[in-house]
Amino acid sequence: MGSVLITGIGELVTNDPGVGDGSALGVLTDAALVVDGDRVAWIGPAAHAPDADTRVDLGGRALVPGFVDAHTHLVFAGDRAAEFAARMAGARYDGGGIAATVAATRRATDAQLRALLAARIVELRAQGTTTVEIKSGYGLTVADEVRALRLAAEVTAETTFLGAHVVPTGAARDAYLALVTGEMLAACAPHARWIDVFCEPASPHAFDGDEARAVLAAGAAAGLGLRVHGNQLSAGPGVTLAVELGAASVDHCTHLTRADVDALAAGTTVATLLPGVEFSTRSPYPDARRLLDAGATVALATDCNPGTSYTSSMPLIIALAVREMRMTPAEALWAATAGGARALRRDDVGVLGPGRRADLTVLDAPSHLHLAYRPGVPIARALSPGGEGVASAAGSVSPAAAAPPALG
Ligand code: NIG
Ligand code: FE
Repeated sequence: MGSVLITGIGELVTNDPGVGDGSALGVLTDAALVVDGDRVAWIGPAAHAPDADTRVDLGGRALVPGFVDAHTHLVFAGDRAAEFAARMAGARYDGGGIAATVAATRRATDAQLRALLAARIVELRAQGTTTVEIKSGYGLTVADEVRALRLAAEVTAETTFLGAHVVPTGAARDAYLALVTGEMLAACAPHARWIDVFCEPASPHAFDGDEARAVLAAGAAAGLGLRVHGNQLSAGPGVTLAVELGAASVDHCTHLTRADVDALAAGTTVATLLPGVEFSTRSPYPDARRLLDAGATVALATDCNPGTSYTSSMPLIIALAVREMRMTPAEALWAATAGGARALRRDDVGVLGPGRRADLTVLDAPSHLHLAYRPGVPIARALSPGGEGVASAAGSVSPAAAAPPALG
């Protein structure tokens, strides 16, 4: 693949505050961009653009860094639509439904799970996501957790071992914890970059602070980076534990105390907010304003899973964050791109500049404001190297590919 010159960019969001309008988004107008292989080779004024092997004209569309979805559970079979309907009729979420997805996922063949995962990757790219983190956690046996991570590793480098999702049906809590921190961790660590734990004392199925600490300590000793599902259903110990242990991210952060906010503001742990969960569980949204105003780093992700957030749409998440969480459109886009990259401790994605990955998302709109301004309208699409996807952004939706590209 040779070099590609992209012109006709209505607005180029770089997330580099050192260029463009001086904002955190580093917005450039009248800019062009050259891609060479999988990297950005040049960004600058269109009038000074160098030659390239091929050219793509975006016709005035906005170009933004590809979305970084730093929290998903994409390896699963079955759905829980009836559980969702019951919640909409007033039932509360407590994690008990995870057992149904575990049963369906264990029953699925490798080929079935691979096909389901491939279709979800196509769905993500079609909505502008170019980097995705994928957790295990619907296997909960050594073999089923290893299988989920192997499949996830076929499509992303960001794989997370979540054996400590819930205590599986029929297992004794202590024995399961010993398995997760022992034999299961040893088998899964070679296939994972991260370890995660559902730390939630308010759920009878999930793990309390001491249990979560044990899981994370074992994961760190095995060389894995740390992530935490924390403070989803109650103001539990997840956030402070994550910050204390230097986790890359603590996710949900729906119920926070003053001490939690202070810890996030002072620490290096990203607060990854997942408003698809509050939408689908009819719960109060996290207080993003309080976190941002305190100086915490905020990311936005889908948490795509069949229980609490069966959406793969980062544009929907951005729209929810703006409308329901009082984030500005700029803050929400940053959190969905550079924020996600920080949550994954990546500096090659989430920001556009020479040498960074050429993970580009084109909007069928003149500016990033339209992501929240046009909720539910499919304006965002990942641009393939070579420019494929521009026509699709203009309206013709291409059918799902049989072999989708992996998401770094
Ligand atoms: O992030 N909270 C725990 N895990 C998932 C939900 C999993 C499920 O209900 O299937 C979450 O919300
Ligand atoms: Fe989750």
